[in-house]
Amino acid sequence: MRVGVLTGGGDCPGLNAVIRAVVRKGVQEYGYDFTGFRDGWRGPLEGRTVPLDIPAVRGILPRGGTILGSSRTNPLQAEDGVRRVRENLAEQGVDALIAIGGEDTLGVAATLYEEHGVPCVGVPKTIDNDLSGTDYTFGFDTAVNIATEAIDRLHTTAESHMRVLVCEVMGRHAGWIALHSGLAGGANVILIPEHRFDLEEVCGWITSRFEAAYAPIVVVAEGAMPSDGEMVLKDESHDSFGHVRLSGVGEWLAKQIEKRTGKEARTTVLGHVQRGGTPSAFDRWLATRFGLHAIDCVHDGDYGKMVALQGTRIVRIPISEATAELKTVDPELYAEAGVFFG
Ligand code: F6P
Repeated sequence: MRVGVLTGGGDCPGLNAVIRAVVRKGVQEYGYDFTGFRDGWRGPLEGRTVPLDIPAVRGILPRGGTILGSSRTNPLQAEDGVRRVRENLAEQGVDALIAIGGEDTLGVAATLYEEHGVPCVGVPKTIDNDLSGTDYTFGFDTAVNIATEAIDRLHTTAESHMRVLVCEVMGRHAGWIALHSGLAGGANVILIPEHRFDLEEVCGWITSRFEAAYAPIVVVAEGAMPSDGEMVLKDESHDSFGHVRLSGVGEWLAKQIEKRTGKEARTTVLGHVQRGGTPSAFDRWLATRFGLHAIDCVHDGDYGKMVALQGTRIVRIPISEATAELKTVDPELYAEAGVFFG
């Protein structure tokens, strides 16, 4: 049996831990061989491979990024994509494929399995934690820890100068990172994409924080939007690869706050720092368990499934179930955090 492995979409701490667990268990317990596909679905599409064996995964558990490389290539949008993927898998003698990725990468795996019979198993990953069917994705905990540490640091400098400090975190569609790091870091305002914010209310919270002789910290997810829509948050220009660039809510917010409250404001955009570097212990643990269960799926011939964390158990669910809709922040959960605003 030869198993192909790929990592697609934005990278995320813990990808290497999954790859290591898949290969270690696959080789040691099942006697499988492996082929690593380079750069997400571009690997099977273009026949780009790397050797994947026990020596290749030695020492990678604590390493961020992915030894396989990643991309956002979608073979379903490429000319003759499905045929090319099938031919390259056959040429490599690959009997089953483990796709580690987010909504887009797993969506491709679901289609290839359901409509074209390609034997795929999915492993969910995203720092955004917005995939359905799993309580957590690995990478999220690391991102929250990085953001929390940043917020802790922002508190001391904000108070030294009695300024507003706005911290923009990742999350285009879901505010999980903002909510968790904002709560953990004691932010005074948390703004998420799921709930349009009222600028006047935000400024009111900021003013009351100053009245209590403290400097406010605002945590804002990159996809958060004001309720009156007076601002165009999306800079619709595309980058050189055709991806829409999102930018600016943090900077925009700081300017509006200065204008409306008369207080000095600064913005810190955490950006890709949240995705880089070594995974937290929780993410290593989760990624390793996902890897062990993914290779078990292959061994059982249980294709079209994604491994998921439900409670403390790793379960298998149809990949299509996980990619059907995003897991966004529950309004009740967000309302709970509101007690700390202002
Ligand atoms: O989905 C993960 C993520 O990090 C998002 O939080 C962020 O909006 C996006 O990827 C950034 O993508 P890129 O690295 O392609 O700019």
